[in-house]
Amino acid sequence: MRIGILGTGMVGKAVAARLAGLDHEVLVGTRDPAATLAREEPDRYGNPPFRVWLEQHPDVKLGGFADAAAHGELLVNATAGEASLDALRLAGEANLDGKVLLDVANALDYSRGMPPTPLVSTTDSLGERIQRAFPAARVVKALNTMSALVMVNPRQLADGDHTVFVCGDDAEAKALVTGLLADGFGWRDVIDLGGLSAARGTEMVLPVWRRLWGALQVPMFNFKVVR
Ligand SMILES: NC(=O)c1ccc[n+]([C@@H]2O[C@H](COP(=O)([O-])OP(=O)(O)OC[C@H]3O[C@@H](n4cnc5c(N)ncnc54)[C@H](OP(=O)(O)O)[C@@H]3O)[C@@H](O)[C@H]2O)c1
Repeated sequence: MRIGILGTGMVGKAVAARLAGLDHEVLVGTRDPAATLAREEPDRYGNPPFRVWLEQHPDVKLGGFADAAAHGELLVNATAGEASLDALRLAGEANLDGKVLLDVANALDYSRGMPPTPLVSTTDSLGERIQRAFPAARVVKALNTMSALVMVNPRQLADGDHTVFVCGDDAEAKALVTGLLADGFGWRDVIDLGGLSAARGTEMVLPVWRRLWGALQVPMFNFKVVR
């Protein structure tokens, strides 16, 4: 499948590498490809600059947000949540038309220091804001409740015996994403929470996640729903 990934951060890179490894045609989008390639400093987690990562993944292509959105049959929003609507506007509304848009983003307010708080909460969510702004896109929220390292390779933790949530208003889009999570990434427990309004809950998992990260001192953990 042709997949366009909006975002050059930890999530964009992890998802792009995994999907390219599954033989999908992956194009990663950024605001300014030349500027992204010119970055020499490590990212905020101390990883090498994007150019080095791209050289290590020659099967992944880089372009603008609009190039990625035009390329993809499936799109992934892996941009900073507080800027996702801007990034999607740069991607171009026409390029989102009818596309399944897997939204992995969390919109966070860092203005009052660490840990950040959700920028949208309780009666709305970033996922719903994206859906309202781009009604012809088919938004599915998933994977935003764990580290990027866990998202794409769940079997490295507890042999995959833990949980990922999906929600969205388009059943076909949700089925496509669920298939990718299960058959592509190896998720064994995908729980469908229903319509996209469930993103209000999954986006509010982040404050708990941040506290757990502080308590455990490692990002390699996840939630498991026991029945
Ligand atoms: N990191 C994780 O493990 C993790 C886990 C769960 C969910 N998430 C969520 O996934 C998303 C991506 O996280 P991340 O850590 O990979 O990267 P990030 O640093 O949160 O976001 C990087 C991306 O956001 C774009 N961006 C930043 N400001 C922008 C603006 N003003 N206009 C347009 N685009 C802008 C950047 O564009 P350029 O490429 O042009 O710089 C870049 O592609 C976030 O919403 C985050 O909350 C992250």
